[in-house]
Amino acid sequence: MLKRQPLLSSVLLVGGAIALFLWTRPAAISSPIAPTAPAYVSCTPSPDGIGKVWMGREISQVMGHPGIGWLERTDREKEEAPSKAIALLELKPDAVLADIGAGSGYYSFRIARKLPQGKVVAVDIQPEMLDFLKTESAKLGVKNVQPHLGAIDDVKLPPSSIDAALMVDAYHEFDHPVEMLASLRSALKPKGRIYLLEYRAEDENVPIKPHHKMTEAQARKEFEAAGFRFVTNKPELPWQHLLIFEKP
Ligand SMILES: C[S@@+](CC[C@H](N)C(=O)[O-])C[C@H]1O[C@@H](n2cnc3c(N)ncnc32)[C@H](O)[C@@H]1O
Repeated sequence: MLKRQPLLSSVLLVGGAIALFLWTRPAAISSPIAPTAPAYVSCTPSPDGIGKVWMGREISQVMGHPGIGWLERTDREKEEAPSKAIALLELKPDAVLADIGAGSGYYSFRIARKLPQGKVVAVDIQPEMLDFLKTESAKLGVKNVQPHLGAIDDVKLPPSSIDAALMVDAYHEFDHPVEMLASLRSALKPKGRIYLLEYRAEDENVPIKPHHKMTEAQARKEFEAAGFRFVTNKPELPWQHLLIFEKP
C-alpha cells in the first residue's frame, strides 16, 4: 500500500497537468468540430421566391434597380406613411444609422435631416442604387448620407460602428439572412437597435405579394435566433410592422 502511494501521486499530478492544459489551451485549437453552416432548405422556386427556405419562409427575389420609380412614387406617403414611421424612430441627433437595403435612399434622405451631427450609412448590394443615391445627394446638397456597397452575406461595416439599423421592405430579400444578421450584430454597438419594417403578412388587405410580406411571429423567430432581443412592435403604420429589436 505504502509502496503504491508515490505512483498514485504521480498519476494525480500528470492527470492534473493534462486537465489544466485542456482547460487553458487556446480557443483556436479547442474544438476539432468545424462551425456548422446555417440549415437552409431548398424548395421549388415560387414565382416571387428564390427556392431557398429559412425557418419555414421562402426568401423572395431581390427588387432590381428598375424598381426605383416604385420606391420613389408620390403615393408612398399616403399608402405607407413613411413620415410617421420616421417619427417613431428613437434617434439622437448625432446617431449613426445604417439603412440596410437602402435602395434609392427614400428613407435615408428623410432620416438624415433628423441627424444634423450624425449620418446615415446607406447600404445596398446594387451599384445602380448607390449611383442613384450619389446623384440625389449632389442634387439635394446632402452631406450626411454615405453610400456603402455591402455584400449579399455581409453588411461590411466595422465592429461596433453603428448606433442603429433600419431595414425597410428589404430583409425578406436577403438571400443569406443568417450571415447578414451576424454581420449586423457585430456592426451594432451594445444596446444598438434594429428597426425592421416589413409588410404585414397577417393582413390580406395589404396589397403586396405574399413573398414580400412577413408575419411578426416569423420575424421574431429569425431575429431572436440571431441573438437579438425583441423590444416591441409599433402598430401605428397602415401596411407595415415596425418591429424593434436590440443587441443585448
Ligand atoms: C424593395 S427595396 C427597398 C428599398 C428601400 N429600403 C425602400 O424602402 O425604399 C430592397 C432593397 O434591398 C436591397 N438588398 C437585397 N439584399 C441585400 C443585402 N444582402 N444587403 C443589402 N441590401 C440588399 C436590394 O438591392 C434593394 O435595393
